Amino acid sequence: MAKHDKIDIGLSTILNPVPVVMVSCGSESTGPNIITIAWAGTINSEPPMVSISVRKSRHSHKIISETGEFVINLVNKPLVKSCDFCGVRSGADLDKFKECGLTPIKAQGLEHAYAIKESPVSISCKVESVTELGSHDMFTARIVAVTADSYILDDQGKICLDKIKLCAYNHGEYFLLGEKVGFFGYSVASDEAFEKRMGYSRKERDKYKHIREQGEKNGKKY
Ligand SMILES: Cc1cc2nc3c(=O)[nH]c(=O)nc-3n(C[C@H](O)[C@H](O)[C@H](O)COP(=O)(O)O)c2cc1C
Repeated sequence: MAKHDKIDIGLSTILNPVPVVMVSCGSESTGPNIITIAWAGTINSEPPMVSISVRKSRHSHKIISETGEFVINLVNKPLVKSCDFCGVRSGADLDKFKECGLTPIKAQGLEHAYAIKESPVSISCKVESVTELGSHDMFTARIVAVTADSYILDDQGKICLDKIKLCAYNHGEYFLLGEKVGFFGYSVASDEAFEKRMGYSRKERDKYKHIREQGEKNGKKY
């Protein structure tokens, strides 16, 4: 069989990798909670909007439905273990903030929901609609505020996500983002722009191509 011969592997949610996020929610009456969500995505730029898909059985489904608010907290290396924990234990049974040693703080732009202090980026969201899709209900929401830790901003106040190793979820496993291999439009960018953004010239990259290829043969991943 040839490498690119196509085999039907059946229907599955195989679109991978996806961001894995810690969605915090709650109110004074419910207390703070965190649910791990892999079915999350950006769905519009202007106004900025996101969606999360949540099963009706989740404790967080009830809270988010009641308050109409949630916060998407990005996950970096120090948070991965807590992210997993919040995805296998329910807030109906325990206080996940407490169990994970995390701090609930007031979420900017929202009335009820809490953000996770230890997350480098928190995105405050107000629910606009809920669509029943089958197994999950999709909450679409408008982003009303975004906060980032000061250490990930540069001198101009620009957010540098490459300063933190964000986590991706790939077919049941967690991975930290690795090497930068390009940037938006790099395939057509000038040599100057390429060098400025990548920190080395196109020529240099080609110069070391044989070393990379040798490494790849020995199982090294670039
Ligand atoms: C990596 C990962 C991704 C998950 N993604 C989702 C998701 O997208 N939607 C969902 O409803 N549950 C998802 N879950 C399951 C919930 O996070 C889990 O059932 C959690 O315990 C619910 O918490 P709660 O009852 O406090 O709301 C995921 C779990 C893990 C570990």
